[in-house]
Amino acid sequence: MSDATPPVAEAVRQALAGLDLEALRRSYWDQNEFVYLERWLPQPLINRMLAEVGRVRPAINRNYIPRHKKGGSVSFYTLLEQAPTIVGLYRAPAFIEFLAGLTGQRLQPCPADDPHSCALYFYTEPGDHIGFHLDTSYYRGARYTVLLGLIEHSSSRLVCQLFKDDPARQPVELQLATHPGTLIVFNGDKLWHSVTPLGSGEERVSLTLEYVTDPSMHPAKRLFSNLKDAFAYFGFRTVFRRALSPSRR
Ligand SMILES: [Fe+2]
Repeated sequence: MSDATPPVAEAVRQALAGLDLEALRRSYWDQNEFVYLERWLPQPLINRMLAEVGRVRPAINRNYIPRHKKGGSVSFYTLLEQAPTIVGLYRAPAFIEFLAGLTGQRLQPCPADDPHSCALYFYTEPGDHIGFHLDTSYYRGARYTVLLGLIEHSSSRLVCQLFKDDPARQPVELQLATHPGTLIVFNGDKLWHSVTPLGSGEERVSLTLEYVTDPSMHPAKRLFSNLKDAFAYFGFRTVFRRALSPSRR
């Protein structure tokens, strides 16, 4: 890294400094704990993350769950070893403080043995998609999801249904492209969302960051969460070798 390149945490702090936090907070709450900020991350940081996306491609784990999900993932364990800029964003104090200001919650990164805490999702083959779901929290506290677009050469859309959990409101559906640097923040228990199927010759890569209010988890929910991650995302070897390892980072 040259002297002219600021450390990730400082670059993130600078990228946040220009935002109107009050307006974003209003938008977040008006939309039932969901906010969309197009092309937020500056290009130099995006470029560094794209280099890391290229580096971790050999570690992609492909999954297929009929009628629900098809795509590839790279877990936090791999990113910890090979993607310092991406992990730097996840852990940047100014970013966590920004999210806490939006959500009104004292947030922290997930425990280091959660492969989902900071992960890349690769949509690279025709038909790659994920059906409608919530990002349900298995932790004792609430879980918040941050999505960051990195590669968007696709006709896929992130489909978000706001107010799905509120019987007093009509749901509002948004169909969003996730261009590089686009930031989306939502409460995982509230936003009903999906990604529509990828067309042929297309590619979409996004980063997901998860934060929690209480990082403890009942052991039975931990087992269920690990099994889901092994089947649906990262593979058994990745999830269980790490979960059973005594030397967690
Ligand atoms: Fe999700």
